[in-house]
Amino acid sequence: MAKICVIGTGYVGLVTGTCFSDMGHDVTCLDIDETRIEQLKQGIMPIYEPGLQQLVDQNVEAGRLTFTTSYAEGLQNTEFAFIAVGTPSDADGDAEMKYVKMAAESIGRNLSHEIIIVNKSTVPVGTGDLVAEIINDLNGHQPPPFSVVSNPEFLREGSAVNDFMSPDRVVLGSTNPEAAKKVADLYEALRSPIMITDLRTAEMIKYASNAFLATRISFINEIANICESLGADVREVARGMGMDKRIGPAFLDAGLGWGGSCFPKDVQALAHMAEVRGAHPQLLQAVMDINCNQRIRAVNKLENALGGLDGRTIGVLGLSFKPNTDDTRDAPALDIIRLLLARGATVQAFDPQAMQASKREIPDLQLRQNPYEVAQDADALLLATEWNEFKSLDFERIKTKMRGNVIIDGRNIWDGGDLHDLGFDYYGMGVPRPDSKK
Ligand code: UGA
Repeated sequence: MAKICVIGTGYVGLVTGTCFSDMGHDVTCLDIDETRIEQLKQGIMPIYEPGLQQLVDQNVEAGRLTFTTSYAEGLQNTEFAFIAVGTPSDADGDAEMKYVKMAAESIGRNLSHEIIIVNKSTVPVGTGDLVAEIINDLNGHQPPPFSVVSNPEFLREGSAVNDFMSPDRVVLGSTNPEAAKKVADLYEALRSPIMITDLRTAEMIKYASNAFLATRISFINEIANICESLGADVREVARGMGMDKRIGPAFLDAGLGWGGSCFPKDVQALAHMAEVRGAHPQLLQAVMDINCNQRIRAVNKLENALGGLDGRTIGVLGLSFKPNTDDTRDAPALDIIRLLLARGATVQAFDPQAMQASKREIPDLQLRQNPYEVAQDADALLLATEWNEFKSLDFERIKTKMRGNVIIDGRNIWDGGDLHDLGFDYYGMGVPRPDSKK
């Protein structure tokens, strides 16, 4: 079993460290945030991720998982140092490299034995070389030797533990194939395909994968908008398309588009990387524009249905950028709420996990304790995030609570025909209006 240090205890770092410890390795999770480490030592999770708490508890109990703020302690006798720190967008849309550089410097300063540095953070192509350069500069190219391996992550928030344990593939890139092979051995037990390539190609695979998934969603949203104008149903169109093995059914759900901490930042960073090198990333630009427009489109739909937003009360269901997470980074719901407030509406909302984070971002947002309180005196309801608990609501009860009858189903989860029969004025995204159904 290997001795591993994972630097960064966000979604990626904490899930990676915990899962490696669950596979029997001896793992130390390191973060420079003292409060976070203190809380983790007390068993308090910094994030909501299904299944993670239990896995952390079990592995701490078994003595395989520990937490520290000290590089000297974390790197002691360690064979692998995984960098899994945040890379938010900087002002230019490029990935902010501050934390990766800080981690590389700290590793360089505390290097006392041979080590493999594995980068899991999503970083601009070429960063693996930069990490090596930083460490070499600090140590004057003197031993101990080290290697850098890129190991992009493909974890989805909300199913990160499962994604780690059953990956579609593990991608490893390095200038040192032997080092990549040693990292491959760590993943061997998962019995998934392992691809070994060069450092820059591995870094690019991550960006290209996220950009492609974002492109699929923007594509289906563009089709949804065309469906809407032609009276076709995008859900059926996606189903029909997805049956073609060359296309496949995943990531073809039309709606309010993509948000979160990954797609927006990564598509932007890829476009930026292209632009600074003189390329013209016109498809990526369109993918981002379509995504931004979906949010405005939903607000315009609401405005038209109500004949104006000024003085209206809008109930919003769901605030996190997708279900099963408390993450509100670039959440469509929050952008939509800002637009509604700017057009004079009052907004009351409920989310199972993301209420406090949303309130911090939008102090004028009014929070409610459940979907029925959200419906109370609302002129319209807008579904922004498709949490399971919103899928089968008691709409008769909702009807008695609401002042108006407009429903915008931003994720196409409800049956428009049923709601129409109950007296609602239902609008989906790219689906025919129920009253036009035979
Ligand atoms: C995404 C990728 O799916 C992961 O493979 C990757 O590792 C991760 O980014 C990352 O780079 O760290 P994540 O952001 O957690 O994962 O969420 P997704 O499940 O991919 O959803 C992203 C957004 O797309 C959400 O806002 C979701 O609502 C939206 N979406 C997804 C759609 O609008 N339609 C779909 O059909 C699918």
